[in-house]
Amino acid sequence: MFAIISDIHSNLEALTTVLADIENRGIETRYCLGDVVGYAANPKECLDIVMEKTASSVLGNHDYAVLYEPTNFNLGAEQASYWTREILELDTETGKKDGRWRYLGTQQMRWTLERKLGDVNAFLDFVHASPRKPINEYVFPDDVYTTPGKINALFERVKHICFIGHTHLPGVFLEDPDFYTPDELGGTYPIIEDEKAIINVGSVGQPRDKDNRASYVYVQDNEVHFVRLKYDYETTAKKIYETAELDNFEGDRLYDGR
Ligand SMILES: [Fe+2]
Repeated sequence: MFAIISDIHSNLEALTTVLADIENRGIETRYCLGDVVGYAANPKECLDIVMEKTASSVLGNHDYAVLYEPTNFNLGAEQASYWTREILELDTETGKKDGRWRYLGTQQMRWTLERKLGDVNAFLDFVHASPRKPINEYVFPDDVYTTPGKINALFERVKHICFIGHTHLPGVFLEDPDFYTPDELGGTYPIIEDEKAIINVGSVGQPRDKDNRASYVYVQDNEVHFVRLKYDYETTAKKIYETAELDNFEGDRLYDGR
């Protein structure tokens, strides 16, 4: 069994809730799809935990923004990036500053795992955003109807299964092209050998599918299970409101998952 988390966005309450659930299930291997930081008020804490608890991670666009520069960000996201950079840079007390920068600076953009899942020979790709542009391209459920050619082009880059985050909208894209929400799948997608899928694991720290619960997936045998968990978003929002450099909207949106 292994779990995949993504888009934590400095939300400590959501991250600790998700990791406790993963531990309760007896899952010892965790992978991360990036965007550890950005938006909320606990970048240092979230980075430290992800560095310690995940076996592998990839670079997200918000991690990139803090490390290099924000690309196509709205004002709130940009402000959060600069504030996060400052918080990481000004930390002279914990002795963890260099290690965090090193971690961010050595993130890969994609990685691949070839392994047997139950009886299925699986080939798993892990990226933050899309199989074509791993850091920045949005793959939206609506693309299936509005730009099906885009989904076809993405699937040409997928050998079997590609796990993504980035849009904060969990669900499964199939080659038809089609998109299924976790509810439409009954919460589970079975990986089979002759079906390609792009699987969005949703967001731990800033869900945007009108469900404010933290999202992640775990894989048991050949089945991908989508999980949603209530967490203390009021505390997360309060910390955002108390930080002048962070836009209040980033707290408001946690209340209704948008
Ligand atoms: Fe994100």
